[in-house]
Amino acid sequence: MDIANFTVEGAAHWSISSVGGEVAGAVAIVAETAADVAAREALLDDAMGPRRKAKSSEKLRRGRRPSEGLAFVARDASSAVAGTVRLWDVTLGEGGPAALLLGPLAVAPSLKSAGIGSALMRHAIAEAARLGHAAILLVGDEPYYGRFGFSAARTGSLAMPGPYERHRLLALELVDGALDGVQGTLKAAGRKLKAQELTSAA
Ligand SMILES: CC(C)(COP(=O)(O)OP(=O)(O)OC[C@H]1O[C@@H](n2cnc3c(N)ncnc32)[C@H](O)[C@@H]1OP(=O)(O)O)[C@@H](O)C(=O)NCCC(=O)NCCS
Repeated sequence: MDIANFTVEGAAHWSISSVGGEVAGAVAIVAETAADVAAREALLDDAMGPRRKAKSSEKLRRGRRPSEGLAFVARDASSAVAGTVRLWDVTLGEGGPAALLLGPLAVAPSLKSAGIGSALMRHAIAEAARLGHAAILLVGDEPYYGRFGFSAARTGSLAMPGPYERHRLLALELVDGALDGVQGTLKAAGRKLKAQELTSAA
């Protein structure tokens, strides 16, 4: 797999090719807009199935907006939504420090393994750092997220507000020491959705 990136007018553009033969073409990682919501939700249903909203991460997202400036889609050459990632404001324990929860990350099943997930992750991490956030947490597979620096090494004293597999609670410090001494259950801290947004932003 080969990924090259360059930035034009605020969007990160990625030329993505797969040694498997499929060439996904140019993919742009851009800020999600209201017009992307239906396509993003359809993609998430396709990629993750109907049980996706039962996850404990969802408790920290439901009824909230993503963290300011931290909702992205990948657009393929025809501008269709080919991938999605969002980050959410949380606090680490009662009265604890602020952090971000990343997810869901998903790529259209037909475009998997072409580097789009990695492009979304790298862009999301870079923007979170640029905006001054100190740490990102997520629930996911370390064999995938480890390549971006995530590990379970600093999350042993933290918990999700619902069932989850402890070894899949991963974190990345954007500021050295941001996770020193953190403990407790993650709490939602994001801006609440307005009533009229609740039906569409799910
Ligand atoms: C996980 C996902 C986002 C990765 O996106 P992608 O665009 O296919 O990822 P990339 O092209 O950047 O990377 C693909 C590589 O990651 C590997 N990979 C994908 N998912 C993995 C996992 N769960 N564990 C370990 N490796 C994984 C692939 O085997 C591939 O390996 P290779 O580079 O050796 O070929 C995508 O597969 C997806 O949408 N899956 C369904 C939804 C999901 O599970 N989301 C994560 C929730 S925690």
